[in-house]
Amino acid sequence: MQIFKEKKHLIKYLKTTTKDKSIGFVATMGSLHSGHLSLISTSKSMCCITVCSIFVNPTQFNNSNDYKNYPKDFNNDILLLKNVDCDILYIPQVKDIYEEKIESKKYNLGKIAKNLEGKYRPGHFDGVATVVDKLFDIVNPNIAFFGEKDLQQLQVVKKLVSITNRKIDIVGVKTVRESNGLAKSSRNKLLSKDHIKEASIIFKCLEYCKFNMHLNIKKLKMYIEDQFLQNQKVQLEYIEFVELNTFDKIKEWGGDKTNAVCIAVYINNVRLIDNIIL
Ligand code: PAJ
Repeated sequence: MQIFKEKKHLIKYLKTTTKDKSIGFVATMGSLHSGHLSLISTSKSMCCITVCSIFVNPTQFNNSNDYKNYPKDFNNDILLLKNVDCDILYIPQVKDIYEEKIESKKYNLGKIAKNLEGKYRPGHFDGVATVVDKLFDIVNPNIAFFGEKDLQQLQVVKKLVSITNRKIDIVGVKTVRESNGLAKSSRNKLLSKDHIKEASIIFKCLEYCKFNMHLNIKKLKMYIEDQFLQNQKVQLEYIEFVELNTFDKIKEWGGDKTNAVCIAVYINNVRLIDNIIL
C-alpha cells in the first residue's frame, strides 16, 4: 500500500500510474472498523485501484469537544488497510486540505440537508460537502463509496455530485453491525461494554418499525419515544420517518424501499446515529 501525506505527491502518482484504470474512493475519518473495510472491499471488487483517505475534518464538527475527542488510531488503521489490500492511503494534515482558512464553503444542497442531521448539527453538511468536494478534486475517482449507516450524508453527497456536475458514481454500501445490532461506528470506541449492551435498543426500535409497518407512523413514533423514556441510559435526540431520496418527513408509508426511519441518540454523551430502509 502506498501512503501519501501530501496531495501534490498523491496527484502526481495518480496521474502517472493509474492511466485508463478505474479509481474507487473511500473517504473516512479513521479509527477504522469492519464497516469501513466493507466499503474498501466493495471498491476493490468494482475498481482497479482503491484509494482510502483518513482525515478528521474539523469543519463538519459543530462541537469542538466532539472534534477533540474523536478517536484516532492511525497505526492500527494502516494495518487494517494493508490486510484488505487497499492500494493507496491518503492521510493529510489539516494544512494540506485547508490551505488558508479552516472553513466550509456554502453549498446549495437544498432541503435534503435541512432536516434531521442538518437541523441538529447546523453547518455539518456544508463541512462534509466541503471536504468531500476537495477530496474528489484530489483523487478524481470514477466511483466513490459511502455507507448507508450515514444515510442522509449518502444522499447529500449524491446531491453534491449533481450540483457540481461531476462524473462520479456514488455507491451506497450496507451498514455493518455488531452482533447485538448496534451499527459499527468509530464512536463505539468511546463506549464501555455496558453502554454497548444498552445501545442495542437503537436497532431494536428500528426493527420494531420494520415488523410493524401495519401500524401508522404516529403510533410507531410514540411507541419508540416511550421506550426511550423508560430507559435512563440512552437519550433519544430524534426518531424521524422520511422519504428516502428527499429526506422529507412522512406521515404515511410509501412503497417498498422508499422510506427510512432515522434515529439519533446520546449514550454517555456520545452521539450515535442509525437508520433502517423500509
Ligand atoms: P466516517 O464516519 O469515518 O465514515 C466513513 C465512511 O464509512 C462513510 O461513508 C460511512 O457511512 C461509512 N461507515 C461508517 N460506519 C459504517 C458501518 N457500520 N457500515 C457501513 N459503512 C459505514 O462519514 C465520514 O467518516 C465523514 O463524514 C466523511 C465522509 C469521511 C467526510 O469527512
